Amino acid sequence: EKAGYPHFMLKEIFEQPRSIADCMRGRLNVENNSIQLGGIEDVMDDLVNAKRIVIAACGTSWHSGLVGEYLFEYLAKTPVEVEYASEFRYRDPLVGEGDVLLVISQSGETADTIAALREAKKRGALVLGICNVVGSTISRETEAGVFTHAGPEIGVASTKAFTAQVVVLTMMALSLGKRKGVLSQDEMSKFIKELSKIPSKVEYILEHNDESIQKMAGLFTYAPNFLYLGRSYNFPVALEGALKLKEISYIHAEGYPAAEMKHGPIALIDEMMPVVVIAATDHTNEKMISNIEEVKARKGRIISIMNDENSDVMDLSEFHISIPTTNDCFSPLLTVIPLQLLSYYIAVNRGCNVDQPRNLAKSVTVE
Ligand code: F6R
Repeated sequence: EKAGYPHFMLKEIFEQPRSIADCMRGRLNVENNSIQLGGIEDVMDDLVNAKRIVIAACGTSWHSGLVGEYLFEYLAKTPVEVEYASEFRYRDPLVGEGDVLLVISQSGETADTIAALREAKKRGALVLGICNVVGSTISRETEAGVFTHAGPEIGVASTKAFTAQVVVLTMMALSLGKRKGVLSQDEMSKFIKELSKIPSKVEYILEHNDESIQKMAGLFTYAPNFLYLGRSYNFPVALEGALKLKEISYIHAEGYPAAEMKHGPIALIDEMMPVVVIAATDHTNEKMISNIEEVKARKGRIISIMNDENSDVMDLSEFHISIPTTNDCFSPLLTVIPLQLLSYYIAVNRGCNVDQPRNLAKSVTVE
């Protein structure tokens, strides 16, 4: 059932070209230049009229929600707030009629996320969901939603569910942008074409980087700490990379927006500190380069995830992983892949139980 892979997590990482394509199938149509999301068709007018969207989720699903914030604001010009489901529900939240609450959950059974959705529903908000598990509590209790169709995710650490969630958020933001008149037919067509190439680009990353990431993992297996830095769309990916490493390898890791580093975490950097920089967002390239220089000046060890042929970043990095270029707003779908592999191989080297890390469960049904 692991299809020849030693762990479900590795199998699920390698399944992503297919799970992403499955998520787009019948929805993203390159020939007609259109996106059809049957599950939310009936509430599209509410989304168009929504003054803001509140996203609530936990863990990795919260990270995809953060990517969603950047996507909805850029592509559809709809303001978004992203909340930890647990904080949202206990705060006497200011949501009600006219508001949209979008919950994101792989399992559809996360207790805090369910409680957030019930709270918002009680207050009159329209409650939508992005779920992987069909028939789950969240998929039943939301008024409309979109399934991720990533297939069963068995490894406790979420991988293919994350990328599928980001694909759904991207398709939602694009179709909303189109309906609102924010995106022209021409812009739509460019985005749709590029999005349709993501599965093959993910495939390329898996084929060309797996070995070098294994080698790199060997060098950093016993690092006690890791820092992950990203900007813009890749700030949430920095958080996700750090979470993956913590969960399965028990190495302390933190993700930061790169510019925040100088407000504190920079004090941690010395010659022992691996710093993973996600430098694959073109519009932040210059700023990222200065952040890399700041890390290097303190002898931190730079591992960069960068776009093809970014020689400036390459020259400054001790290790680099090149990924195919895509539109900045789709780059999390590519940059997260090497980070999943890096955490996987480090955890394996440390002899950790990758598929069932200590203290964790696949769905967190306690509050
Ligand atoms: C991360 C992980 C957890 C879950 C979180 C939410 O790898 O597995 O952080 O993402 O518990 O779970 P769902 O998405 O099922 O609501």
